[in-house]
Amino acid sequence: MSSNESAAGIAHVYRGTFVHATYHTAVEILEDGLLGVDTEGKIAFIGSGKEVDRLSQKWGFEAFAVTQLGQHEFFMPGMVDTHIHASQYSYAGTALDMPLLQWLNMYTFPVEACYKDLEFARNVYTHIVKRTLRNGTTTACYFATIHTDASLLLGQIANDFGQRALVGKVINSYPLVRPVVTPRFAPSCSATLLGHLGEIAQNNDLHIQSHISETKEEVNLVKELFPDYDSYTDVYHRHNLLTDKTVMAHGCHLTDGELKLFRETGASIAHCPNSNISLCSGMLDVRRVLNHKVKLGLGTDVAGGYSPSMLDAVRRTLDTSKALTIQDTQYHTLTFEEVFRLATLGGSQALSLDENTGNFEVGKDFDALRVNTDAAGGPIDLINHGEGPKVYVAGKRVVPFVERP
Ligand code: GUN
Ligand code: FE
Repeated sequence: MSSNESAAGIAHVYRGTFVHATYHTAVEILEDGLLGVDTEGKIAFIGSGKEVDRLSQKWGFEAFAVTQLGQHEFFMPGMVDTHIHASQYSYAGTALDMPLLQWLNMYTFPVEACYKDLEFARNVYTHIVKRTLRNGTTTACYFATIHTDASLLLGQIANDFGQRALVGKVINSYPLVRPVVTPRFAPSCSATLLGHLGEIAQNNDLHIQSHISETKEEVNLVKELFPDYDSYTDVYHRHNLLTDKTVMAHGCHLTDGELKLFRETGASIAHCPNSNISLCSGMLDVRRVLNHKVKLGLGTDVAGGYSPSMLDAVRRTLDTSKALTIQDTQYHTLTFEEVFRLATLGGSQALSLDENTGNFEVGKDFDALRVNTDAAGGPIDLINHGEGPKVYVAGKRVVPFVERP
C-alpha cells in the first residue's frame, strides 16, 4: 500500500464480501472487506470494513461514498477464457457430429471464409463480445481468421465494450487488446512459416497461441508431416513458439516428456473440456498437468465447445475430472475451489496477464464481477440462508437439512 498511494485519486470504494484465488489459496473469502479503486481502474487498497474511518482519512475518500454490497452479494474476479474462436460463434451449438479433422473441413473452414465480408464479421464479433461479457468473461484470448480487417475489428469491438483481449493476427493494439501470434496448428503450417512466426514473436516479445495434441488422429498426422521432430511439442519448440507467453489449447494426448518441455519453457495449456467431449477428442488429465507444474487455464473453445460461458467450462472441467475418477477410483479429483482458481487466476497466469488481472491484489486492474445470488428472477433459490427455515413438528423446531462434513 505504500509505493503508489498518492499517484492517483480514489474513484470507487466497495464494502462487502470478496471471493478470489491467491497464489497460496484456491478460494479466499474476505467478509466485510473494503476495496478501493483508483481513477485508473487499479486496486489501490484492500482492507477490512472495520477500518473504513482510518482508510478514508488515509486515501482521502468520504466514508458516505462507499458502495455497500447487499447481504447476498459478493465480488469475484472476472473470468478468463484462455481459448475461444470468435469466428465460430455463428454456429455454436450445432455441427458437433464428427471428429476434429472432418469437422474443420466440413463446417469450420467454409464459415471462416465468410470473414472476408466485414459486415458479417461485425455482426458475429459484436455478439460474441457482448455474450461473453454477459457471461462474466472479462478477459478472452480469441482466435479470429486470416482476414486482417475483420481481426482488427474484433480488437476494436472488444476494446469498445471494455473486454480485455488477446486477438489473433492483430498488429495494431487498443488499450485493452494485445496481439497474439496465431499459427492455427502444426498440420496447417509449413516449417518455414512456423519459423517466421517464431521469429516475429521473439523480436517483438509477443503472445503466442495455437492448438496441440487435441486428438490422436491429429498427433499421428503431425508425426507424418514432421517426421524429423521428437514430438508434436518439439515441432513448436524448435521454431521458438514455446515461451512463457505461449498458450496451447487442449494437450489431451501430451506425454510426460512434452509436459516437461512446457514446464521448462513456461508455456501453458488451455483446457477446453466442453470441446474435448463434444468432438470426442479426449479427456485431459488436469491433475497430471498441474503435477508437472505447467500453467493451466480454462477455455470454452467455441464452437468445438458449444457454450460461450466460462461457468460452463468450470462445470465441464469438474465433469471430466469426475469421469476420470469413475475410471480410476484412486484418481485425485479436482475440487470446485481448484477449478474456480483455474477459471480466474489460473487463466490470467496461463495468458501471462497475471500482473494485470486474475485476482484482487493491490496494483492489479479491478476486473470484477458483482454477483447477486438473490437477484429477482435469477437462477438461484436461496433456501438455507439467514436464520434457516423455521419448521416445527409437534411443536418442536427441526432443522431439515444435513450438515456437510
Ligand atoms: N485445431 C485447429 N483448428 C481448430 C479449431 O478451429 N478448433 C479446434 N477445436 N481445434 C482446432
Ligand atoms: Fe480451438
